[in-house]
Amino acid sequence: MNKYDILNHLAKGDDYVSGEALSQAFGVSRQSIWKHVNALIGEGYQIESVRRKGYKLIASESLSKNSVAQLLNQTTLFESAQYHDQIDSTNSYAKRNADDLTTAIIVSAEQSAGRGRLGRTWHSSAGTGLYFSLLLRPDIAPHLASMLTQLAALAMRRAIERTHQLKTQIKWPNDIYYNDKKLSGILTEMATEMNAVEYVVVGVGVNLKQLSFEPEIADIATSIAAHSDCNLSRMALLKAFIVAFEGLYNTFLEGQNLAFVSSELNEHSYVVGKNIWLIDGQKRQAALAKAINEMGELVVEQEGEERKLYYGEVSVRLNERNCSV
Ligand code: BTN
Repeated sequence: MNKYDILNHLAKGDDYVSGEALSQAFGVSRQSIWKHVNALIGEGYQIESVRRKGYKLIASESLSKNSVAQLLNQTTLFESAQYHDQIDSTNSYAKRNADDLTTAIIVSAEQSAGRGRLGRTWHSSAGTGLYFSLLLRPDIAPHLASMLTQLAALAMRRAIERTHQLKTQIKWPNDIYYNDKKLSGILTEMATEMNAVEYVVVGVGVNLKQLSFEPEIADIATSIAAHSDCNLSRMALLKAFIVAFEGLYNTFLEGQNLAFVSSELNEHSYVVGKNIWLIDGQKRQAALAKAINEMGELVVEQEGEERKLYYGEVSVRLNERNCSV
């Protein structure tokens, strides 16, 4: 047992827990509980301690150590939830610490080395975006792990609509678009052992408050602030995401396919029904995006033939000129 077990215990309730109850729950002395609580306070957690009542994690609405720990109130999927003021990348952190964590939500207010797909950088300055990763241990075959990316995209789409009233679209398989510009991206990474998944890290970045972007992405990026009159809240968005994701994830694990969200994925797709370019390194080919099937593949028509694209095989760009070369 360590101090974080006490933190998680406090986070899961919203009332005082007595030192006695904690000492019984963990089989250690009340003195030892008090020491651990003090260590947590030293780390920046706000814990109230009242004589005869016990300890309570103070509720907080904004993104903080306390509010992230209290996400555990909303979910049974994750064993721990951590907030950092700054780390290199929440995905890298989750992978580095995978041996010490079972399932976790890792959030950082700022990333010094945020990563995107294809080795790109994800600009992650303090306070402007939401940056987090989920460490998951699904009992699935490795080739199904990419479906988690699409579930995360759906969960974020739902969360953005619920909290900030924007109806976004999913650019298969891992980006969220609004008004033809990218609002959010997802980077899924996996470790396998033999032919089983050891863990999957799903990292999500959302542009929330940015009103201007770095020159290299200025033409293609947008943010929630640019389109929503709602109060911007990273915490509200994260909470709505976790609730949506947990429901989707549990249903997915039962059926191990995306049939249950097929209509939602197709209805809110940014590419289905459009002419696209399939980009593979220097090569690009014209195709018509027809549908996303129940395995999460993008079904396209190319020179009269139907082809199914697996996640990561090619990247997709709209072909608005309708050209074939
Ligand atoms: C992409 O669009 O290429 C994916 C971007 C993913 C960014 C998120 S931010 C949180 C997590 N940590 C990272 O380093 N990357 C992901």
